[in-house]
Amino acid sequence: MTVRPILTAPDPRLQAVSTDVEAVTDEIRALVDDMADSMYAADGIGLAAIQIGVPKRVLVIDLDQKEGQRNPVAYINPKILWASEETAVFEEGCLSVPEIWDDVERPARIKAEYLDRDGNKQVLEADGLLATCLQHEMDHLNGVLFIDHLSRLKRSMAVKKLTKAKKLAAAG
Ligand code: NI
Repeated sequence: MTVRPILTAPDPRLQAVSTDVEAVTDEIRALVDDMADSMYAADGIGLAAIQIGVPKRVLVIDLDQKEGQRNPVAYINPKILWASEETAVFEEGCLSVPEIWDDVERPARIKAEYLDRDGNKQVLEADGLLATCLQHEMDHLNGVLFIDHLSRLKRSMAVKKLTKAKKLAAAG
C-alpha cells in the first residue's frame, strides 16, 4: 500500500479516456489499495485511477469518514444505467483541481452497475452526495473534470489560477 502523487490540472494525462479492467486481479486490488491510501492522505472522499496516472476504469469512494471510520468502496468499470431528469446542485471540489470549488448541476439520482473488488457485478441506486460523487469520479474516466461543467469564463479563470499556482510551485 503506497501513497502515490495525485496529478493536478492542467495535466494532459487527466484528459485521457481510461480503459475497462479486463479482470479484477490482485494487481487491480493493489491499485485500489494505493488509490485509497492516496485519497486518505490528501483528505479526499473519492479518487479515480487516472488521478494517480493509471488510465483504468477504477474508482474509490468513501463518504463515511466523518464517523472516523474508513470504508473505501471500489467501483470497477462503472456504468450509468439510468439518470433522473431531476437535478441537484452540489459545491464540488477535486484533488486534481486544488483550491477551487464551485456549484455543479447533475442528475439527482442514478442507477449504476460496476464490479466490486472481488470482481462481482453490483447494481446500485444512489442519490444525494453519493450520486454526485459517482458522476464526478466517472467523469474522470472520460477525461472530464468538474470545471468542464462550468461556464467558459469560470473554467478559463480556474485554469489560469491552476496554471499560475503550478508556475509558483515550480519556481518554489
Ligand atoms: Ni475529482
